[in-house]
Amino acid sequence: MHKTILVTGATGTIGKEVAIQLSMMDEDIRVRAGVHSIIKGENLKRLPNVEVVEMDFKDQDSLHAAFTHVDKVFMVTPFAKDQVEMAKTLVDEAKRKGVKHLVKLSVIYADAEPGFMIGHWHREIEKYIEDSGITYTFLRPSSFMQNYIHYDAESIKNEGRLYHSTGSGKIASIDVRDIAAVSVEVLLGSGHEGKAYELTGPEAISNPEAAQIIGEVSGRQVQYVDVPADAARSAMLKKQMPDWMIDAMLELESAYREDRFSETTDTVQQLTGRPPHSFQQFVKDHQKCFE
Ligand SMILES: NC(=O)c1ccc[n+]([C@@H]2O[C@H](COP(=O)([O-])OP(=O)(O)OC[C@H]3O[C@@H](n4cnc5c(N)ncnc54)[C@H](OP(=O)(O)O)[C@@H]3O)[C@@H](O)[C@H]2O)c1
Repeated sequence: MHKTILVTGATGTIGKEVAIQLSMMDEDIRVRAGVHSIIKGENLKRLPNVEVVEMDFKDQDSLHAAFTHVDKVFMVTPFAKDQVEMAKTLVDEAKRKGVKHLVKLSVIYADAEPGFMIGHWHREIEKYIEDSGITYTFLRPSSFMQNYIHYDAESIKNEGRLYHSTGSGKIASIDVRDIAAVSVEVLLGSGHEGKAYELTGPEAISNPEAAQIIGEVSGRQVQYVDVPADAARSAMLKKQMPDWMIDAMLELESAYREDRFSETTDTVQQLTGRPPHSFQQFVKDHQKCFE
């Protein structure tokens, strides 16, 4: 009898990669890709062993259908104001349906004190899962390398500039492909129950260094521009970003500036048996995004 693994947020940065990597595994599993919109999830239907189901974290009926006959869950919730409520709703449904293992995508240092806002939100969800009695594993990755594609590629392509407020602070960011590889191991392997894994890339890179690497790989000059926090806030307000999100982002940038996210771990190597992608390799593999 095959096992069914539900992947939530399956059109998102990490959920999609997890669905893709699970679909390629030579195991008796069925991947249920939970998508917010069936239209966006169309491409996932072409993957082997993948079925696509529409689910809205705020719509109980859709959750009921998505969780039916599910053995394990890879749970991602979006960076949204009500992310904690959404996650709790998912945990409640997982409990009702007797899910055997819940793998939650969290964030690095979620349990650190005094910590940071995003970490606190994730820790609140983690605690809720711990109290639910469901068998769990927490994956706590550092900043995604893919953020450079989603948030910075436009200014890099159009102006040859990378804007941040991180000074020469170093960040041990991680390639989402490595988070997904760990997720697959945790979902299909054993011995990961009740564990929390802090995941980073192999090295810490500052944003001036990131600009230089992107420039070298894409064969053009990319200049790092250090933006004062108040100017960064104005720029984010102009983009209609809500205050809670701006506060959380600026808090992170300031922590990066202070080198508080520069430590690396060897967890990816330990769990997957291979080293995580370097930043240079990430840029090479996504060169087109920056040209
Ligand atoms: N980015 C980082 O550097 C980083 C680092 C560590 C941890 N994290 C954590 O990673 C998580 C975000 O992961 P991600 O980058 O993969 O997010 P993402 O790309 O924004 O994907 C979020 C997914 O959730 C779906 N979604 C949004 N609202 C939904 C709803 N109401 N019902 C059902 N699905 C919904 C989205 O679908 P639609 O697009 O169709 O709405 C999308 O597929 C957050 O918890 C964040 O704190 C991020």
